[in-house]
Amino acid sequence: MHFLTLDELTVDDIYEVLHQAEALTNHKPLPRPDLYAVNLFFENSTRTKCSFEMAQRKLGMNVLSFEAGTASISKGESLYDTVKTLEAIGVDVAVIRHSEERYFDALKDKVSISLINGGDGMGHHPSQCMLDLLTIYQEFGDFKGLNVTIAGDIRHSRVARSNTYALKRLGANVSFSGPAAWRDPDLEDISFIEMDQAVKESDVLMLLRVQHERHAFGENFTKLEYHNQYGLTLEREKKMKKNSIIMHPAPVNRGVEIADELVECERSRIFKQMKNGVITRMAMLQYVLAKREETKHELIN
Ligand code: CP
Repeated sequence: MHFLTLDELTVDDIYEVLHQAEALTNHKPLPRPDLYAVNLFFENSTRTKCSFEMAQRKLGMNVLSFEAGTASISKGESLYDTVKTLEAIGVDVAVIRHSEERYFDALKDKVSISLINGGDGMGHHPSQCMLDLLTIYQEFGDFKGLNVTIAGDIRHSRVARSNTYALKRLGANVSFSGPAAWRDPDLEDISFIEMDQAVKESDVLMLLRVQHERHAFGENFTKLEYHNQYGLTLEREKKMKKNSIIMHPAPVNRGVEIADELVECERSRIFKQMKNGVITRMAMLQYVLAKREETKHELIN
């Protein structure tokens, strides 16, 4: 059993993980010293890597250290052989972040270790999506009819793809905002609105990081031009709906997607999202481990 994209989960599965995460706020799970986890990050990360490790430790799992720069991948070992090696030495769960989209397709049916996708190129980011869903659910108690605008670098964002798909299935009205050059041809059915309209209509304004590493920033605009035309400025924030919230998966380019002063303003849930990342990832690990146990049980019987 793996956790690779939101497409593989039913709406009931999504709610099961969200409720499991909420329950973990108040209840300590039993320690699982019999279980081993490893986090294979081939792209940089602070939040996803550290909060998966925190989640694993809070669940009482053993966590193996792995640094991509010093691993045998640098000697030419394939990702498949790396995962098979970790499986052979007794690892139960591997969280993987890799720049190649759908890297997991070459692994998922060939390994018994459970895989959790920590982000695949511009493809999917299921744990960010689940923690974003939890943050919205805690705030509004439902997704149906909520106006969610995802704003910025849509084309290069795995967060945009995962969240759009999940939020639509849960009944939210999703719109995009941002530069036309960064629209995604695969998501042409989502309406595009200007930022001035988005601030007035949205219950949730989800800003995206400009993905400098995936394209040449500054091709079309300077950081200040981007901020003034497409970003959440101090003036625009004043026009936001009562009770609406600001989200951002972070890391944040302060003064580009969002004014520096707004990162920690009253409407901002940016650090709440990070806090929710730990219980969400604990719930995802528990979900995968429970399905793994079920499969083992079925094979024995
Ligand atoms: N939001 C997110 O994925 O952050 P990191 O790249 O720091 O993990």
